[in-house]
Amino acid sequence: MTAFPDGFRWGTATAAHQVEGGNTNNDWWRWEHAASGTVAEPSGDACDSWDRWAEDVALVAGLGFDHYRFSLEWSRIEPAPGEWSLAALDHYRRICAALRERDVEPVVTFHHFTSPAWLADMGSWEKGEAVDRFADFCHRAAAAIGPLAARACTINEPNVVSTAGYVLGVFPPGVTDPGRAEAVTENLVAAHRRAVDAIRAAAPDLPVGMTLSMTDYQPLDGGEERTAHIREVHEDVFLRATAGDDFLGVQTYTRMLIGPDGWAGPQPGVPVLPMGYELWPDALEACLRRAWQVTGGSLPLWVTENGIGTDDDGQRIDFVAAALRGVLRALADGVAVEGYTYWSLLDNFEWAFGYRPRFGLVSVDRESFARRPKPSARWLSEVARSNRLP
Ligand code: GAL
Repeated sequence: MTAFPDGFRWGTATAAHQVEGGNTNNDWWRWEHAASGTVAEPSGDACDSWDRWAEDVALVAGLGFDHYRFSLEWSRIEPAPGEWSLAALDHYRRICAALRERDVEPVVTFHHFTSPAWLADMGSWEKGEAVDRFADFCHRAAAAIGPLAARACTINEPNVVSTAGYVLGVFPPGVTDPGRAEAVTENLVAAHRRAVDAIRAAAPDLPVGMTLSMTDYQPLDGGEERTAHIREVHEDVFLRATAGDDFLGVQTYTRMLIGPDGWAGPQPGVPVLPMGYELWPDALEACLRRAWQVTGGSLPLWVTENGIGTDDDGQRIDFVAAALRGVLRALADGVAVEGYTYWSLLDNFEWAFGYRPRFGLVSVDRESFARRPKPSARWLSEVARSNRLP
């Protein structure tokens, strides 16, 4: 079987801080300029999408995608606590309107890793106040863009915010304390629930859900207990928090082999990507099946991110084709997957890795910001238009 069900949705994604440029008022900008040196390079101008968003919209529409997932930069909309930038809200409303004019549905993420600098000063996600602040922001933003948006994603990968920021220390605030991460997870779960309510109150017709990072954790001999623990703290606690949502976004990049002491690293013989993990496209199918099983099939799934950071664009096509064959197998077994959103439209700022990994369907010249679609863009465009794998 190579055909996707009628009405299957195809799109691509970006996130504000990774493409806009000049987001100087958030925790990531500070982190990029901190002495810790864990970020390869600062985000700087990124892809200059704050100014060039119309080019991005034209690219997405020109490739024939039916949706574009992008995020709102909270620090631009609420530059100081309780101070709202109507111009920033209007900026995002214009993007939504331009997408609608081209028959592309705006899929809007309300928090994609970055928080305003003032929230960081208040203790960020370790403090319950962050939950209230985020709910206020969601209400305000949903009231502005709700009528134009097609789908709302509350918090992008809350599990990565918690683990990368508070266990591994590679995201701000750079903490390495699992005890503190637990409190952050609790607050992120609460923030998601409050965000769902706030968005529904402001925009009752807008479907809303969480987007979760999922990895195909595979236990090695003796790694069963550890795997169960990782699944619980990294995925299941968040999956349980999706009850009552309109959809669940699954975001998968790889598998991880788990031994008694945790991740056992790549298996010899399996290619390793610049991000340090295995090239393993089948992970997507495994994660979709697991999300479906843990949530009891109670809400439809979307692949809100899947992709590969590589300089070899042919490898990208092979990766996506293999991942999509897995989606077809899951669909054939009754897993309700409604759409596929490739990460990313553009080569962009890949957080701690800087501009080195290239996830884009479209390259961006680092000096002129000129965008050039790669062969993979045309390939995925054809898949989307025909709604089938070649
Ligand atoms: C996700 C994240 C994206 C992007 C992607 C590729 O975890 O949501 O912002 O960076 O990984 O690594």
